[in-house]
Amino acid sequence: MTDDAHTAPRGVGVVVVAAGSGARLGAQVPKAAVRLAGRTLLARAVERVLAVDGLSCLVLVVPAALAGPEHWDLGELPAHAAFVAGGAERTESVAAGLAAVGEDCDVVLVHDAARCLAPTEVFDRVVAAVRAGADGVVPGLPVVDTVKTVDADGFVTGTPERTTLRAVQTPQGFRREVLIAAHAGGKVATDDAALVERTGRRVLVVDGDPMAFKVTTRDDLERAERLVAGA
Ligand code: C5P
Repeated sequence: MTDDAHTAPRGVGVVVVAAGSGARLGAQVPKAAVRLAGRTLLARAVERVLAVDGLSCLVLVVPAALAGPEHWDLGELPAHAAFVAGGAERTESVAAGLAAVGEDCDVVLVHDAARCLAPTEVFDRVVAAVRAGADGVVPGLPVVDTVKTVDADGFVTGTPERTTLRAVQTPQGFRREVLIAAHAGGKVATDDAALVERTGRRVLVVDGDPMAFKVTTRDDLERAERLVAGA
């Protein structure tokens, strides 16, 4: 083993973005503060993140007014956990969280608190694929519906071949410097992989998990409640 291998950072940083409003859920509180069978969505998500192999930095990106542990029933957090105020767009929230990730992390994962039931195994799978050499890694599932692209008037402009499509989830993982460079462009996207793709880097899709679905609507919350209850 070389000296470099001894000194190279080997930690995993996880940024959990939880600063969204939850308007589509119709909730009176930010979405991540909505309770799922008694515990907040953020607490459910964090519980699974804390078991990630090699976790050395946890950043929770929350609404500015709720930037402290007293607002969330998270239980005991590791000393490296930090709260950061989010921005108006998801991309801004991720950038704020990324700035708080320690340099001891060679891999950074970005996770939506709204995907509160994503199993720890998905995180470990994503980290392993980044460590195996990929610049960026996203969990994804095959698409069951036929997907159309449409123009502004609703007319179909194309039908992508279904076997080439994947519905992607979080956690999305990157080498730390790759994600920093992607966010330095100041562009906005609905996921972090899109920013990395725009820098010309290759992003690998690994197996996602049906449990990593995003709680967006009331129906999603009810589905999550049934799953937690084991129904
Ligand atoms: O709005 P959407 O469902 O795409 O949000 C995905 C995740 O990003 C959620 O966990 C949400 O809390 C987070 N988010 C954020 N800051 C925003 C918007 C969304 O942290 N400004």
